[in-house]
Amino acid sequence: MLRVGDIALKNPVVLAPMAGVCNPAFRLIAKEFGAGLVCAEMVSDKAILQKNEKSLQMLFVDEREKPLSLQIFGGDRQTLVEAAKVVDQQTNADIIDINMGCPVPKITKCDAGAKWLLDPNKIYEMVAAVVDAVQKPVTVKMRMGWDEEHIYAVRNAQAVERAGGKAVAVHGRTRVQMYEGTADWDIIRQVKESVGIPVIGNGDVKTPQDAKRLLETTGADGVMIGRAALGNPWMLYRTVQYLETGELAADPTPREKFDVCMLHLDRLIALKGERVAVREMRKHVAWYVKGIKGATKIKDQINQFDSRDEIKHVLYSFVEELEAREAVEVI
Ligand SMILES: Cc1cc2nc3c(=O)[nH]c(=O)nc-3n(C[C@H](O)[C@H](O)[C@H](O)COP(=O)(O)O)c2cc1C
Repeated sequence: MLRVGDIALKNPVVLAPMAGVCNPAFRLIAKEFGAGLVCAEMVSDKAILQKNEKSLQMLFVDEREKPLSLQIFGGDRQTLVEAAKVVDQQTNADIIDINMGCPVPKITKCDAGAKWLLDPNKIYEMVAAVVDAVQKPVTVKMRMGWDEEHIYAVRNAQAVERAGGKAVAVHGRTRVQMYEGTADWDIIRQVKESVGIPVIGNGDVKTPQDAKRLLETTGADGVMIGRAALGNPWMLYRTVQYLETGELAADPTPREKFDVCMLHLDRLIALKGERVAVREMRKHVAWYVKGIKGATKIKDQINQFDSRDEIKHVLYSFVEELEAREAVEVI
């Protein structure tokens, strides 16, 4: 069983932290679809300390989502530690995760995110300072290195362990790769062989079979799924089931997809109000309809959506037409 400090997870399937996606609305769905652990979107240490309203809202954790990992990022020791204390003392999160993988320049130029990957000593110091200041288990999510010439994943993970980190998630890409190329799972294996703390493998897990292969070939203790769960929380459920029983559950029907899409939207509305939720939901609708035959018709309308009822109308008129056509074909 995968344990992070004293937090026991019911299975090794982890929803990856994703900015702009992993808020309580989606995380709760991921949890209901069986994920053993859900990760929240990254929050800036400085924004927490400045009491930025949006960032403080990002610290909200619904009891039903637990266990949950809340991720912070930052480049300065003092602000990172102070923000970690806020998460430790004032939130319902179970785990404090530190972002050491974000590749975007806005983050790395502040010496945060993937910038740390170049300096195992900094990793040690920063993680140790956070661990000393909090009660909750501290984990780190990292890319395998900055670029091809600086792949320090093993040294970096060992620094995390020495500093008292309770688990490390490894995305098998460099910062320079952004999301190009394919994730290198062998580096996950190398990290697993070099540390005693749990290792969670991440990158390009697109199917339940991929998840099994990652766990088997790397020896990792957990598997983290990001993009494959977008608009497709069934990926989490099907992976958990496949790992437990070897059975592959059927893919959802379009109607099932739209039912969950509407549930997602309604939860977002409860969280952020209809105007903001509908805007935010546009990208999710595009993900939910991905792979449905004829759904380009929906995609073309997405940017004009401006109410819940409009989204509902477009989705269900489409599915009713589709089901009517399929019924005719069956006859
Ligand atoms: C939209 C999006 C937002 C992301 N935001 C974060 C984030 O806030 N923190 C983080 O550590 N990684 C973030 N990531 C990286 C993912 O957690 C994950 O490492 C990456 O997508 C590779 O996994 P995958 O191939 O399963 O998607 C993000 C990825 C995506 C696609």
